[in-house]
Amino acid sequence: MRKTVKDIIAMKSNGERIAMLTAYDAPMASLLHDSGADLLLVGDSLGMVVLGYDSTVPVTLSDIMHHTGAVRRGAPEALVVADVPFGACHVSESESVANGFLLMKEAGCDAVKIEGGKPICSTIRRMVDAGIPVMGHLGLTPQTAGALGGFKVQGRDMETAKQLLEDARALQDAGVFGVVLECVPTGLAEVVTEALDIPTIGIGAGAGCDGQVLVTNDMLGLFEKFVPKFVKHYAELAPQIRSGVKDYVKDVRAGDFPAEEHQFNSKCDYRELLK
Ligand code: KIV
Repeated sequence: MRKTVKDIIAMKSNGERIAMLTAYDAPMASLLHDSGADLLLVGDSLGMVVLGYDSTVPVTLSDIMHHTGAVRRGAPEALVVADVPFGACHVSESESVANGFLLMKEAGCDAVKIEGGKPICSTIRRMVDAGIPVMGHLGLTPQTAGALGGFKVQGRDMETAKQLLEDARALQDAGVFGVVLECVPTGLAEVVTEALDIPTIGIGAGAGCDGQVLVTNDMLGLFEKFVPKFVKHYAELAPQIRSGVKDYVKDVRAGDFPAEEHQFNSKCDYRELLK
């Protein structure tokens, strides 16, 4: 049976750690769900690990909808969270609610994730009141990384740490069911986790969070442009793919593929057609 956001909140009270991963297509979504991931996030990291952009900023609502649809079809029983891309929740509250409805009704997600703290809270309240489950995202928020001074750890001093804790409390008051904490010191993530009733899901935020999330292409060793400090490789798929493709190319050049067992035969003498 498909988990609900209430089940995710209950995992915190039961002391069960939450395992979230990103997914962008149907076959991977199916594999991740079958392997026990609690939530699948159609992250706007899509832009960098699948679409070839240098940042998440160019990702559009229709990109997220397209990939969310694929993830939903691949894993009909998964709890799917769609990332709200840069700009899709910042023009007006009513447009944000409308975009949330589109993501749920047409793309098929169960919840959405929005980056930002206090300034986005009244929009989040409107969305939650309209029946759209929302997950927050604090710390390093890649959509506004430029304004934060780049892809840097956030909350290293007491002033910015206090701000982050206040943002987390404001998000909880606005009705989010969980908060991603990206690239914050372990001690700060622990304090935020203790202060909230809803789960924190860390990425580069240490072991004290209620759950963890990684970009699947990072943790499977598929994305090779750079490896952030917080990523652990659980597989090395890029070298395996390269080696498989090299073997295929070699076999094709040598005439060793397709072999007899990969071919279709018939009793007809097709040579007759050339006469
Ligand atoms: O876009 C994404 O994949 C994310 C995760 C890093 C949390 O927001």
